Amino acid sequence: MTSAARPAGASPPGDGSPADLNALDPAIWPRSARRAGGVLTIGGLDVRDLASEFGTPLFACDENDFRARCREFRSAFGDRDAVCYAAKAFCSREVLRWAAAEGLGVDVCTEGELETALSAGLPGPILTLHGNNKSVAELARATDAGVGHIVLDSFEEIARLAYLAEQRHTRPKVLVRVTTGVDARTHEYIATAHDDQKFGFSLASGAAAEAVRRVIACPDLELAGLHSHIGSQITDPTRFQSAAELMAGLAAAIRDEHGVEIAELDLGGGFGIAYTAGDHPADPLRIARILTSTVDAACAAAGLTRPRLTVEPGRAIAGPGTITLYEVGTIKDVPFDGGLRSYVSVDGGMSDNIRTALYDARYTCVLASRESTAPPALSRVVGRHCESGDIVVRDAYLPADLAPGDLLAVAATGAYCRSAASNYNHVPRPAVAAVRDGSARTLVRRETMEDVLRLDAG
Ligand SMILES: Cc1ncc(COP(=O)(O)O)c(C=O)c1O
Repeated sequence: MTSAARPAGASPPGDGSPADLNALDPAIWPRSARRAGGVLTIGGLDVRDLASEFGTPLFACDENDFRARCREFRSAFGDRDAVCYAAKAFCSREVLRWAAAEGLGVDVCTEGELETALSAGLPGPILTLHGNNKSVAELARATDAGVGHIVLDSFEEIARLAYLAEQRHTRPKVLVRVTTGVDARTHEYIATAHDDQKFGFSLASGAAAEAVRRVIACPDLELAGLHSHIGSQITDPTRFQSAAELMAGLAAAIRDEHGVEIAELDLGGGFGIAYTAGDHPADPLRIARILTSTVDAACAAAGLTRPRLTVEPGRAIAGPGTITLYEVGTIKDVPFDGGLRSYVSVDGGMSDNIRTALYDARYTCVLASRESTAPPALSRVVGRHCESGDIVVRDAYLPADLAPGDLLAVAATGAYCRSAASNYNHVPRPAVAAVRDGSARTLVRRETMEDVLRLDAG
């Protein structure tokens, strides 16, 4: 459905709006995204057909894109090192099977993610369990399922796991999570290596060295190595280099104190992706070169046997290949600073994408159900929730003839959107559909109103 152009909201030329509002920057959009007859297609499917089959909002996930990114990380790190997909970015049985089939391990950080992986048929040994406050039940389940690595995050947890292991006559492999103090230069809420936050054992305070001492003193735990994760959406790879150097230094100190050489060094995830044309992330090959050369050099200098490296990308695998499709409901042209901004309300919002409200994240969006030659209008794509901070795309140039009933597509929503979705305002969470080579299937079905009301005991 279209309506007459709204020239009142149109932006003057030369205001920084994109030259072609219909263009799809390949650095931002899924690899299969195209325009056919003006309409956006993904996985060879017309988004209008996807919207009528699955409803909107809809996460459409390009399976080939996801799998290709898994393979690119695997081949960049080669056989001597390991890559684990961080399931928190997006977790469903099918995508965890894709990751495993492409040769990746899988990181989980809660019982729910662990059960998803186990019920998907993934073997325990390829899993790693994270979390800063794992319950005793989670630790017991992970131990019983033969989870490959448990990442220890507190002194209490060392004692709890040691007790569980002794009772079960098992010897779980553990990594000690280290807070390196490296400034990730990302949003505060997704930076995890500065000392004043909740994760890991501080390197600077000596807590990390003490945690290693306690693990080594415990016969029921096998110290496999060290873990560090400095934050997320990091586009400057030299940040990982600093963390890798500090971790190699700790490995040398452990060898000097205990005569033990650690076998594994897990440097976490956090590799940034392009959400807008201003983002320039490093590709897996560059990340691998930087990390492996840093660790090789630091180990050689310290006379250490080089440990096996692991990385844990989540966003860089799941993020770029998924789009969110929304239907436009209302449009208001609102005066601001002498100009006009179009508030475009869509049928989702902060319940399917909390990142804009939480981190002031930036996104790219386009009119998807048709192309347009109308001039650009400075727009703000907002949701349907009762919050003025319910913003999906803070600043977007959309065609001035945008109208209710049009479909909008927001790029790079595969990570931390559906996985962080909520039922705020009792809104059912959207479906996730996998698209590939002209066919689509449900990964996660849309919630119904019955689902939303199911837990209400009144
Ligand atoms: C321990 C750990 N590993 C990996 C990741 C994945 O990060 P990203 O999705 O930014 O790659 C996270 C994210 O928070 C994490 O906490």
